[in-house]
Amino acid sequence: MTKSVYVLPGDNIGPEIISEGVKVLEAVNERLDLEIKVRYGLIGGRALDATGDPCPPETLMEARNSDAVLLGAVGGPKWDDCEREMRPEKGLLRIRQALNLFANLRPVIMFPQLVAASSLKPSFIEDLDILIVRELVGGIYFGEPRGFRILESGEKEGFNTLKYSESEIRRVGKIAYEAAMKRGKRLCSVDKSNVLEATILWRQVISDMSAEYPDVSLSHMYVDNAAMQLVSKPSQFDVIVTGNMFGDILSDISAMLTGSIGMLPSASLNEKAFGMYEPCHGSAPDIAGQNIANPLATILSVALLFRYSLGMPDAAVAIEDAVGKVLDRGFRTRDILTDDTILVSTSEMGSAVMEELKVTK
Ligand code: IPM
Ligand code: MG
Repeated sequence: MTKSVYVLPGDNIGPEIISEGVKVLEAVNERLDLEIKVRYGLIGGRALDATGDPCPPETLMEARNSDAVLLGAVGGPKWDDCEREMRPEKGLLRIRQALNLFANLRPVIMFPQLVAASSLKPSFIEDLDILIVRELVGGIYFGEPRGFRILESGEKEGFNTLKYSESEIRRVGKIAYEAAMKRGKRLCSVDKSNVLEATILWRQVISDMSAEYPDVSLSHMYVDNAAMQLVSKPSQFDVIVTGNMFGDILSDISAMLTGSIGMLPSASLNEKAFGMYEPCHGSAPDIAGQNIANPLATILSVALLFRYSLGMPDAAVAIEDAVGKVLDRGFRTRDILTDDTILVSTSEMGSAVMEELKVTK
């Protein structure tokens, strides 16, 4: 089996966490005697510095010629004053859109070893297992018209457009329903249909689809309530499906339930299961270059890469188990450090997971 993975480290802590993800990928490659070829490219601020474009055409071409993309993180203060279209984040949005990665899966899994690191009491989060399905290439992130204009009063105004078509809702809805079928068969659709028309349609389409999935019990929740429920009674959720911006916000909230945003992986898929895999966190400029960032979200994203794009669920489970074993040994990066655990660096954490994969058969 020859497969190719295109790696885009990105900015700030991006390269540090990506090195650990690639270590783990190579360990699986070796252990299972696969022929996965790893190639590197540019995205975000580093792409902008090198080529004048945060998402250069070559990056898109190489991504399209791969079986999967592994991405670190983009952005940082160095590029904050760039023209809007040239911002590193724009590069990330452009690659998501160009590859039509409309379904962003963000599994919120509680490793029992990290219960003490969570911001919630243990009884609220034990056995937590939520899958957030976030629409990724539509909604207010991409809606036109958008921009700035000068009002008659002479005042400046910034504006964006929130819209969703039936087909955009249906295709992400299908992914969410199918995921629910394979899990606890409960789907909660999150919207703001008491105020926003685009989400009135969202609720209608997701409701209409429930006839095709009679085994899935569907519920609806307004986003403000969902944010509250996630921190008051998170175990009620199985699969959550929501639009781009609400999904962005709810996934960061959910990440903290698991102890740290450094634990949350993601898979962004198109209809052919081609995918881009990235940790949900940002590029953390404040801790870049110090070898202290948590690489586990990236390592767990590599697990998702094996599961969804390479069709190798066993490899995914092996990586997830290896992470569990390393946590069992008490190893923690700074963000998840609690009493009686052992502080390790980014690279020590990655190496520990890699060693686990080498020794366990
Ligand atoms: C995420 C990030 C991105 C987003 C940023 C970096 C553009 O927050 O992947 O959640 O908002 O989608
Ligand atoms: Mg985010």
